[in-house]
Amino acid sequence: MAAQFAVVAAVLSCLLVLASCNTEGDILYAQRQAWRDPNNVLESWDPTLVNPCTWFHITCNNNNSVIRVDLGNAGISGPLIPDLGGLVNLQYLELYDNSLNGTIPATLGNLTKLVSLDLYDNLLSGPIPSTLGIISTLRYLRLYENSLTGSIPASLGNLTNLQDLELQQNALSGTIPSSLGNIKTLQFLKLNDNMLSGTVPLEVLSLVISGNLTEINIAKNNLDGTVRSSGLRVTAIIQDKLKTA
Ligand SMILES: *[C@@H]1O[C@H](CO)[C@@H](O)[C@H](O)[C@H]1NC(C)=O
Ligand SMILES: *[C@@H]1O[C@H](CO)[C@@H](O)[C@H](O)[C@H]1NC(C)=O
Ligand SMILES: *[C@@H]1O[C@H](CO)[C@@H](O)[C@H](O)[C@H]1NC(C)=O
Ligand SMILES: *[C@@H]1O[C@H](CO)[C@@H](O)[C@H](O)[C@H]1NC(C)=O
Ligand SMILES: *[C@@H]1O[C@H](CO)[C@@H](O)[C@H](O)[C@H]1NC(C)=O
Repeated sequence: MAAQFAVVAAVLSCLLVLASCNTEGDILYAQRQAWRDPNNVLESWDPTLVNPCTWFHITCNNNNSVIRVDLGNAGISGPLIPDLGGLVNLQYLELYDNSLNGTIPATLGNLTKLVSLDLYDNLLSGPIPSTLGIISTLRYLRLYENSLTGSIPASLGNLTNLQDLELQQNALSGTIPSSLGNIKTLQFLKLNDNMLSGTVPLEVLSLVISGNLTEINIAKNNLDGTVRSSGLRVTAIIQDKLKTA
C-alpha cells in the first residue's frame, strides 16, 4: 500500500512540476522498493535526483533515457514489477543469477528496443509471456534455470534477429513451435531439461542447414521416440548438406 502511494505521489509531482519529471527514475525506484537488497547494491538509487543516469548499475543514452540495467549476480530477490515495461529505450535488461521470483510481466513486450533479456538463474515461475514475440530487436533471450511453466509461445518465431534462445532447465510443456524455424539468425537453441513433448519440427531442424543454427540441445524432455536418460546429452547435430534436386 505504501509503495503504491509513493508511486501515485511521484506521478502527481511529475505532472505538477514538469521540470522535475523523472518517469524512468520513478519506475526504477518503485522496482527498488519491491526488491530485497541485502547487499545494498541499490543504495545509490535516489529518487530525488533529476534522472537515474548517475545511479550505479544504470546506463543512459545522450537524452538521459535508460538503456541498460546491469544487476546480474547482485543478491537481489523479489518480483519484477510490470512498470518495467515503461523503460521504452531499454536495450539490455541483465538480471541473471539473483533470487527474483513471481512471473515475467507481459508488459516487457513494450520494451521494443531490447537487445538482450537475461533473466536466467532466478526463481521465476508462470508462463513465458507471448508478448516477448513483439520485440523484434531481441538478439539474446536467456530465461534458463527458472521454474517457468506452460508452453513455448509460437510468437517467439517473430524474433527474426534472435541469435540465442536458451529456455533450458525449466518446467516447460507442450510442443516445440514450428514458428521457431523462421529464425534464420538463430545460433543456439537450448530447450533441454523441460517437459516438452511431440517431435522436433522439421522447420526447426532445417535451420541447421538453411540457417545459422550450430547448437540444438533438446535432451531430457518427453519428446517422441526418445527415452529420458541422464547419461546422454545431445549438444550438436552435424550432418551433410541436403542434396538439392
Ligand atoms: C534524443 O532525442 C531526440 C529528440 O527527441 C531524438 O531525435 C534523438 O534521436 C534522441 N537520441 C537518442 C540517442 O535517443
Ligand atoms: C517470493 O519470495 C518471497 C520471499 O521468500 C515470498 O514472500 C513471496 O511469496 C514469493 N512470491 C512468489 C510469487 O512466489
Ligand atoms: C504494455 O503492455 C501491456 C501488456 O502487453 C499493455 O496492456 C499495455 O497497454 C502496454 N503499455 C504501454 C504504455 O504501451
Ligand atoms: C507473431 O507470431 C504469431 C504466431 O506465430 C502470429 O500469429 C502473429 O501474427 C505474429 N505477429 C507479428 C506481428 O508478426
Ligand atoms: C549467420 O552468421 C554469420 C556469422 O556470424 C553472419 O555474418 C550472418 O549474417 C548470419 N546469417 C543470418 C541469416 O543471420
